[in-house]
Amino acid sequence: MIMKGKITGISGPTVSVDVKGLKLYEMVLVGSIKLTGEVVRVEENRTIVQVYEDMRGLAVGEPVQGSGASLTVTLGPGLISGIFDGLQRPLKKLWKESGPFIRQAPEMNALDSALHWEFHPLRKAGDKVLRDEMIGYVQEGVFRHFISGGEGGVLARIHDGKFSIHEPVGIFEDGKEIFAYQRWPVRIPRPYRKKLPSSGLLVTGQRVIDFLYPVAKGGTAVIPGGFGTGKTILEQAIAKFSDVDIVMYAGCGERGNEMAEMIEEFEQLSDHWTKRKLLERTVLCVNTSNMPVAAREASIYTAVTMAEYYRDLGLHVLFLADSISRWAEALREISTSLEEMPGEEGYPTYLSSRLASFIERAGLVETMDGRTGSISMILAVSPPGGDLTEPVTQAGLRTAGAFLMLDTKLAHRRHFPAVNWFQSYSLYGKDLAKFCSENYSPEWEALLFKCRDILQREEQLREVAEIIGFEGLQDSDRLCMHAAEKIRSGFLSQNAYSDDAFSPPAKTLSAIKHIMDFFETASEKLKQGVPLTELLK
Ligand SMILES: Nc1ncnc2c1ncn2[C@@H]1O[C@H](COP(=O)(O)OP(=O)(O)O)[C@@H](O)[C@H]1O
Ligand SMILES: [Mg+2]
Repeated sequence: MIMKGKITGISGPTVSVDVKGLKLYEMVLVGSIKLTGEVVRVEENRTIVQVYEDMRGLAVGEPVQGSGASLTVTLGPGLISGIFDGLQRPLKKLWKESGPFIRQAPEMNALDSALHWEFHPLRKAGDKVLRDEMIGYVQEGVFRHFISGGEGGVLARIHDGKFSIHEPVGIFEDGKEIFAYQRWPVRIPRPYRKKLPSSGLLVTGQRVIDFLYPVAKGGTAVIPGGFGTGKTILEQAIAKFSDVDIVMYAGCGERGNEMAEMIEEFEQLSDHWTKRKLLERTVLCVNTSNMPVAAREASIYTAVTMAEYYRDLGLHVLFLADSISRWAEALREISTSLEEMPGEEGYPTYLSSRLASFIERAGLVETMDGRTGSISMILAVSPPGGDLTEPVTQAGLRTAGAFLMLDTKLAHRRHFPAVNWFQSYSLYGKDLAKFCSENYSPEWEALLFKCRDILQREEQLREVAEIIGFEGLQDSDRLCMHAAEKIRSGFLSQNAYSDDAFSPPAKTLSAIKHIMDFFETASEKLKQGVPLTELLK
């Protein structure tokens, strides 16, 4: 039953309505221009709806109607290369039809009916299909979409060959149609058979990450960093060089012109692995700061649900978000307008648990049909004023497996990526050092210890040198500082605009080995009495 009623009040990003019988998270059409909203609170006499679209001009008394369903996304062939808003409307088409200030958005399908796909049946008419059994597949470039028979039945007809996405590819004897796409409510994680322990390195091509603070495939990382510390550039580099099948990019609440620039850049990026356009294996889901705040949450959830869809096809997906702070700010705004008891710095008390259950959607899994797929998450955090004690950074610190802290001082010195090599950490470090020793080189772990040791000694020596002066240090210490400098400038820093932007594990290994070999040989010679000046020539 579709519930109807009226708007009784408007407050910031939410409206209260008198519609009876609405459910929490039910999708609602608000006002005579039918803006999309979602129920966020149900009380005895009123229900509160967060609205995803521009509410200018909306008035009390306008009609509201429930939909009987949650906010869903469409999943199927044709999403790749797409650029969507939080409600999964193709942004470019939207801009073309309504200009950059989207008011009353026309209903739009995420999947283009004009495209024709080739359906390859795996079953034939008369076959009995069990629940969730595959009846065929659609090939989209290198990606294969398996089409399930849903609840199953006896096939009356099955298609063979070209079809348009909104036509059924099969019909059961009871008249039920089978489509090559499916709908899924964004707030409900898609099921899998079991979660597997994340193992194996997510190659990001960034030495400071892959070597010092690695992220596992199926793992999660947050990148907190103040304005201008390189979050966006680092995420782009990771998007470009990671050894994953699909990149899902959630652009959240950054300024409109920045986002437009980012989209433009993304369209130009070439893919190191396939030598084609990166966009051919990327989906973008973005909203900008001039869109209503509630839309930020929609983009995040819509994007992760699409990521889960690809994971379920047996693919490795990299989920990037820039930045989750804007999402948290939206939660704060909604929470304030709901008059909830505020937590730290006005964020809702459930900020941490909301983030934790979101991050839970990452992981390496055995899918419902026995494939292996993964979602790795790398989430940028933009703490106001670069203050890392603020709640969003702290919530990220507690929930993510790796914490890649971007350092304003390093960024000022133009040391990029500005990942601080003392204050970052990775819970995957130990396992992945072993993994890399087994898969890339038996020397990996030993080199890692030595590299860490030199960086730490440098830090201590620096303090000593501040007191007694650099000249007062022993030659062996000065050699150590020299090696540390080499590690910092020749190994940990990596210019995203140069040929060095991508460092595969073999290159990472040989680069650190080169520095370590030099250091060890020089240390030996120093002991034999060769003067330091001679060695540093
Ligand atoms: N890896 C990098 N290599 C070279 N320059 C970089 C790198 N990362 C950041 N930068 C420089 O820093 C600037 C700011 O980076 P950006 O990613 O936009 O910061 P943020 O998103 O944290 O505000 C860039 O325009 C670029 O000049
Ligand atoms: Mg940025």
